[in-house]
Amino acid sequence: MNVVILAAGMGKRMQSDLPKVLHPLAGKPLLSHVINTARALNPSRVCVVHGHGGDLVPSRLAAEDLHFVLQSPQLGTGHAVMQAADGLDDDMPTLVLYGDVPLTTAQTLQTLIDQAGKEKLAVLTVDLDDPTGYGRIVREDKRIVRIVEQKDAGDTERAIREVNTGILVAPTRALKAWLSKLSNNNAQQEYYLTDIIAMAVKDGITVESAQPAQVWETLGVNSKVQLAELERIYQRNVADALLEYGVTLADPNRIDVRGALHCGRDVSIDVGCVFEGEVVLGDGVSISANCVIRDAHIGRGAIIKAFSHIDGAAIGSEAQIGPYARLRPGTVLGDDVHIGNFVEIKNSQFDAHSKANHLAYVGDATIGARVNIGAGTITCNYDGANKHRTVIEDDAFIGSDTQLVAPVTVGKGATIGAGTTLTKDAPRDSLTVSRAKQTSIAGWQRPVKIKK
Ligand code: UD1
Ligand code: CA
Repeated sequence: MNVVILAAGMGKRMQSDLPKVLHPLAGKPLLSHVINTARALNPSRVCVVHGHGGDLVPSRLAAEDLHFVLQSPQLGTGHAVMQAADGLDDDMPTLVLYGDVPLTTAQTLQTLIDQAGKEKLAVLTVDLDDPTGYGRIVREDKRIVRIVEQKDAGDTERAIREVNTGILVAPTRALKAWLSKLSNNNAQQEYYLTDIIAMAVKDGITVESAQPAQVWETLGVNSKVQLAELERIYQRNVADALLEYGVTLADPNRIDVRGALHCGRDVSIDVGCVFEGEVVLGDGVSISANCVIRDAHIGRGAIIKAFSHIDGAAIGSEAQIGPYARLRPGTVLGDDVHIGNFVEIKNSQFDAHSKANHLAYVGDATIGARVNIGAGTITCNYDGANKHRTVIEDDAFIGSDTQLVAPVTVGKGATIGAGTTLTKDAPRDSLTVSRAKQTSIAGWQRPVKIKK
């Protein structure tokens, strides 16, 4: 099958400089959703007709299996398909999709494709309570005979509630012949793709129809209001699927998944969490409110407390993270690691049972097992030009308010006294302290304010 995706429209009502089809839904451009659905049908060719935004659309979405053709100026949906005609294989049918209709399911499209078979035309239609603005499906003796656009319709036609979604399947050789005969002699002076319906009927070709399982599958985005509505529908569908799978959601209306979220058994997620990229939550993981988690793997039984931000991290089982923890890319935490509030970790490994419970920055570090990192500890990993590594071996204890000036190593079982600025390696099993000895000055007077 050939697929043609129409994506040249400007999207004036979006009130944006960004081409409409590049606006994100669930973190991905509208057009990417349509392309992915098309791919699910195993087409032999996918052609994207772009126009507004110049090269932005092809450069953002370039992929080996996509062919981009420019439509400039944009003279209507029929004119748009014409631009793609040369690249379509005559021997298989052509499916036309819209780049701004992101939620159609592959299943619905398959039903439509099956209706069309090799020889017939098939149109995806829906019945709407308010059909205003859409092309109306005109039937005679139950068979579709033509589609009339809102602006060209008379009162009787405007009363028809069955509308054209724009999605159709046509036999390609015939489609090309019909396209070449289109005229723009209509209210909008556009080449209407919808005019091919009457042409097919005239040629004795049967026009079938199919309906989507849900109306939202055919909703398009013309404004930010509609984009927000479709985002909610998408998110509610994801939430329902998670619930169906057994995930506990404190409120299915207050979770956002902008990518793929894979959950084990008995996972629970509190309100206000955002998941981006590819996130895997193991069995029994619990996520508290207002966490942002992207591209992460969280092990069995781990607890992520409120307001944690996790990006590009792997977290071991039974770990406890947060509240208010920040894990940056390259963080790898072993089992039962505890990371507490206001701790930032980047490009660092912690082996099992190690803890950094309060106020610390750990960057470019390798931390062994059962290490305790005291409050206010900082790895000074950056000298202004290069990054250096800190190594802390098993069972070390880092006292509060320690600065580890990398490159530096703390040996196995070593203790670093609070307030130390460590500039040389600390030997194993010893106490290393760099602060000055404590002295007390008896009778010392505080300065007093000089009266002017
Ligand atoms: C079209 C249909 C109408 C249907 C409606 C569903 C025609 C003539 N009318 O109307 O029957 O009910 O969709 O939403 O087909 N596009 C291009 N190049 C163009 C014009 C449009 O690529 O020159 C693209 C747009 O970017 C959009 C799609 O085609 O993705 C539909 O265009 P739009 O202007 O929204 O069509 P309507 O007039 O709403
Ligand atoms: Ca539209």
